[in-house]
Amino acid sequence: FGRRPWVFIRGVPALKFLPPEGPPEIAFAGRSNVGKSSLINALVGMNGLARTSNTPGRTQELNYFVPEGYSGAEDDLPPMALVDMPGYGYAKAPKDQVDQWTKLVFDYLRGRSTLKRVYLLIDSRHGIKKNDEGVMDLLDKAAMSYQVVLTKTDKIKQAGVPRLMSDTVALLKRRPAAYPEIIATSSEKSTGIDDLREAIALAITQ
Ligand code: GTP
Ligand code: MG
Repeated sequence: FGRRPWVFIRGVPALKFLPPEGPPEIAFAGRSNVGKSSLINALVGMNGLARTSNTPGRTQELNYFVPEGYSGAEDDLPPMALVDMPGYGYAKAPKDQVDQWTKLVFDYLRGRSTLKRVYLLIDSRHGIKKNDEGVMDLLDKAAMSYQVVLTKTDKIKQAGVPRLMSDTVALLKRRPAAYPEIIATSSEKSTGIDDLREAIALAITQ
């Protein structure tokens, strides 16, 4: 992840506002409040980069982050871009907002050739929910490689983490696009962040 600071480059409310395909992209998806923006901040080591909040539904667009100092010209592309996706499963979200989310995300997943992997974040206190399964269906249907990341493991009993991990891996068995290993993290305690960095570094070369 280098030593350069990262910057926000663009919020994308609809596909036509996507930046031209350039560097390899890694996207972060998950229910509202699962900790996507916090995880991005932990990865790049910058507290205030992606806006985090206790109010679910904070991130409404596909937010693009890249390391600073690249022009974006064909011969001066950043090594990767991180994409913070709007959360789903927000109880108060109106139906047309949900439909809009599904369309934006599905079109993005299906059509973006530079998207190398989606990290699907699951709150370790709640496990995989119905709407997470719906998103896995989308990912499998789009044949988009994804890997599950458990978040907020500082909030559960540490002795329960291995069991939670093996239970979660078992749920992914019959999912063709799911990566067979998962990563347990806490952005708060910086647990698992190096493992995730390594996995991402590998994913962008694939
Ligand atoms: P949306 O943008 O609404 O979809 O949410 P998000 O998935 O980006 O979640 P965000 O990173 O904003 O975090 C939501 C809340 O969870 C914030 O209050 C964070 O401080 C808290 N949080 C995130 N990660 C952790 C963690 O590892 N441990 C603990 N204890 N709290 C966390
Ligand atoms: Mg967010």
